[in-house]
Amino acid sequence: MKKLITATTVVLSALCSTVSLAAEGDVGVEASMDDRYCTTCHGAEGIGNIAIEAPRLAGMEAWYLKRQLENFRAGIRGTHAEDIQGIAMQPMAAKLSDESIDDIVGWVGEWEYVAAEITVDGNVNQGRTAYQSCASCHGANAEGNEALGAPALAGQNDWYMITQIKNFRAGFRGAHSEDTYGSQMLAMSKTLRDDQAVINVVSYINTLQK
Ligand code: HEC
Ligand code: HEC
Repeated sequence: MKKLITATTVVLSALCSTVSLAAEGDVGVEASMDDRYCTTCHGAEGIGNIAIEAPRLAGMEAWYLKRQLENFRAGIRGTHAEDIQGIAMQPMAAKLSDESIDDIVGWVGEWEYVAAEITVDGNVNQGRTAYQSCASCHGANAEGNEALGAPALAGQNDWYMITQIKNFRAGFRGAHSEDTYGSQMLAMSKTLRDDQAVINVVSYINTLQK
């Protein structure tokens, strides 16, 4: 909790300085540009920030990015009382207009894809076996599948994927009655037996590249 408060304070002060900078000039900037505060938490060029547990956005599929922003905005994601990181993100999306979301999706699409740094070291062989049941949706190389609504996992921050899988397993994410895609993933997350199985499958995903 303490960590979260510290992170929030850092973010709020960073946001305030952004606002005062914007006030000094930039008269011709469109209103939607004001909503480009994402890098404050997600890191410069959207490469992810482990201190705030905000994942990499650079390289994310446009359709997935849009759906997550809409789901956060609608409270379909990030409203479960125990979804600590989701609750940090939810208000960031709550005030976005459709125009802002389109602007952000285009903006993020300009960032260069950089694979995230590897931070876990589980059993890759066991992870490979477990991943076979994930491949039907996320793709053999974890490249994602738009038709099934399953995002790419290759190159994403491993610490973030671990939190997400645990959150799905615990019902902190994907349990909202309108979360059509999240509920599918919630069911699938139950096939991973324990925390070690989660670490193993993510360690295998780390070996795959986009
Ligand atoms: C206060 C810090 C903060 C700010 C500012 C912020 N985010 Fe986030 N964001 C987070 C955190 C923390 C998470 C992880 C949520 C979770 O674990 O479910 C997240 C998650 C996300 C996700 C989900 C990624 C995925 O793989 O499902 C998207 C998309 C996202 N943010 C986009 C944005 C965009 C776009 C902006 C700017 C409009 C933004 N965020 C601003 C903290 C922030
Ligand atoms: C039935 C199809 C399906 C299968 C099988 C499946 N997933 Fe998913 N997964 C999804 C969908 C759909 C989403 C997006 C949920 C959303 O929109 O919130 C998702 C989301 C995720 C996320 C969150 C990504 C992010 O950026 O937030 C992770 C991590 C993940 N899956 C890992 C796995 C792993 C590991 C397995 C195998 C044990 C697996 N999935 C099996 C459909 C599937």
